[in-house]
Amino acid sequence: MQTTATALIEAGPQLSVGVLGADLLRLGEELEPLDGIVHVDVMDGVFCPQLTVGPAFVGALPDRFVKDVHLMVEEPLSKLEPYVEAGAGIVTIHVESTRHPHRALQSLARSGVVRGAALNPGTPVSTVEPLLDELELLLVLAVNPGFGGQAFIPATERRLAEARALVGDREIVLAVDGGITKANVGRVASLGVDLIVTGSAVFDGADPVENARTMLEAARQARTGNAFMAGVTKEG
Ligand code: DX5
Ligand code: ZN
Repeated sequence: MQTTATALIEAGPQLSVGVLGADLLRLGEELEPLDGIVHVDVMDGVFCPQLTVGPAFVGALPDRFVKDVHLMVEEPLSKLEPYVEAGAGIVTIHVESTRHPHRALQSLARSGVVRGAALNPGTPVSTVEPLLDELELLLVLAVNPGFGGQAFIPATERRLAEARALVGDREIVLAVDGGITKANVGRVASLGVDLIVTGSAVFDGADPVENARTMLEAARQARTGNAFMAGVTKEG
């Protein structure tokens, strides 16, 4: 399903559920009760140490979902089109994966997808400053890419605050990915994050729908509380 940055911001905070955290041999069943946004971690074994899925997998996911494609691949420019054709709603490239992140984002301008740039934990947030006019989503990684179930890197909180300030009033979705749990989801939401990626905390063996509901509620409450106290968020 297609969406826009504006719609994502207005509906935020929302969860983007990392489908590779599910039981892949029962994926259809696992996804059946879910709705909304699903996050697909595409890894090429070069940009990061794992090899996962590609456009055929994205195409096979039900179209009722907004398909949020996170490309952790070297030189994405020549590899973007198949994901657009597979029905991606969001396509995010890593700024570290190409000398031409600006060109890669430009190439998606008329594709109808929400265009995202991601930052590894070791990359300064200010790297995206020259990209802001071509950007609709900024994804701050809270872990080094490659694996689900890693621990949230604490310095991410400072980076999210920096990213929030950099984005300012622009129609750019602020997203976070990696190490989100029931314990920290409220905290990241209170920093003004619009889209929260979560894999292992949703598919932890208990009911995924219940897990997602609990996390979403915690995120929404934290955002409302913050708006009430500080008057700085959109809802405020
Ligand atoms: C990291 C991926 C993340 C991660 C999320 O390489 O981009 O999407 O798998 O999984 P959890 O929520 O388990 O950290
Ligand atoms: Zn991801």
